Amino acid sequence: MTLKLFRNARIYTPLDKGRPLRGSEMNQIYSEEKGAILIRDGYIESIGQELEVLKYVTEDALEIDLGGRCVIPGFVDPHTHACFVGTREREFILRLQGASYLEILKMGGGILSTVDKVRSASYDELYTSTEEVVNRALKNGTTSMEIKSGYGLSLDHEVKMLEVIDALKGKPVDIIATFMGAHAVPREYKENPKAYVDLVVEEMIPHIAAKGLAKYCDVFCEESVFSVDDARRILLAARKCGLGLKIHADEVYDLGGAKLAAELKVDSAEHLLAASEEGLKAMAESGVLAVLLPATAFSLRKSYAPARKMIEMGVPVALATDCNPGSCYCESMEMVFRLAILGMGLSMEESLVASTLNAAYAIGMATHVGSLERGKKADFVVLEGETPGIMAYHLGWRNIKEVYKMGQRFSS
Ligand code: NIG
Ligand code: FE
Repeated sequence: MTLKLFRNARIYTPLDKGRPLRGSEMNQIYSEEKGAILIRDGYIESIGQELEVLKYVTEDALEIDLGGRCVIPGFVDPHTHACFVGTREREFILRLQGASYLEILKMGGGILSTVDKVRSASYDELYTSTEEVVNRALKNGTTSMEIKSGYGLSLDHEVKMLEVIDALKGKPVDIIATFMGAHAVPREYKENPKAYVDLVVEEMIPHIAAKGLAKYCDVFCEESVFSVDDARRILLAARKCGLGLKIHADEVYDLGGAKLAAELKVDSAEHLLAASEEGLKAMAESGVLAVLLPATAFSLRKSYAPARKMIEMGVPVALATDCNPGSCYCESMEMVFRLAILGMGLSMEESLVASTLNAAYAIGMATHVGSLERGKKADFVVLEGETPGIMAYHLGWRNIKEVYKMGQRFSS
């Protein structure tokens, strides 16, 4: 049994209402200038004004003085492709010279070049390189994250990816696995993409669901990748097998992915850079969460998703890195928090809610993480400044001083 008391903390946290926050709720966060957190065996026993929390300390506790620094919930990153080997730096330079992301994919590069590397990697090689990405995310304040498969694109290689993801769970980052066999059409099915969709629907989804290797299924619904009809078919098959649903929707072209997300009431729709007003309205009406990826737009040099409009329309918004070796090589939720404020126009409070509590809702983890409240895991980040705003204000700097997972310090 361990009892820890963190004193002299400036606490900033969303408060959980049992559902994602939306509209003006995203601006309402709890803050305490002289706060404390009492932690028993990794869970928060009491949090709030220091004088109040001290009343709960009835036995010896290890005391840690945070020196007036800001404390926020550990970041939750609800959309990553962190299981990969090798980078694509050359492709990045080609894009700087004018090649488009989808052109590179059509020529057999992009996602498909990472597929080649993942297919030829052993389980151990894939494990080591994924672990490195997860450790970098932890160092940058991420204490829970989602990781997608989708660089295997055959049953065996998708299973290999999901087994690696499974083996990394809780070491110490909490990880949720998503099956994304429909990330691209593999080369061997180029002439017959319909047969690949059949394989995903008839073999991969039932096998992966039966083995309990994924909580969600995701599809890249995009021009020249998977159509709205393919996506509907894949997602319905996944739902039938008990998986939760996610969709990469309207990233480059408005195919109607947001509308499909609303029609199927998926757990979250991601990207949405090109989503139509009609699609967003449908999402607001059906309460579908939008997971926005501003570092991807930044890295691809595109306009950001219309986050302000979404919040005003009542779409619940979360933020994620999209960490992958192609469109966005970034493990840092601090960077995402910063871009949401400086690029998409979110307030400090909205960006905090979107990168913690709403992000936890996007991957079904909010009962345990996403806010600093009694009964939740003591996952938190100590910042170099007095408010979360330091992360957007002090540019080009990692403003994260310490990262705690279940009350234990893992990074400083
Ligand atoms: O979300 N858009 C599709 N998938 C990823 C990129 C994956 C890659 O390029 O390797 C994304 O941006
Ligand atoms: Fe993605």
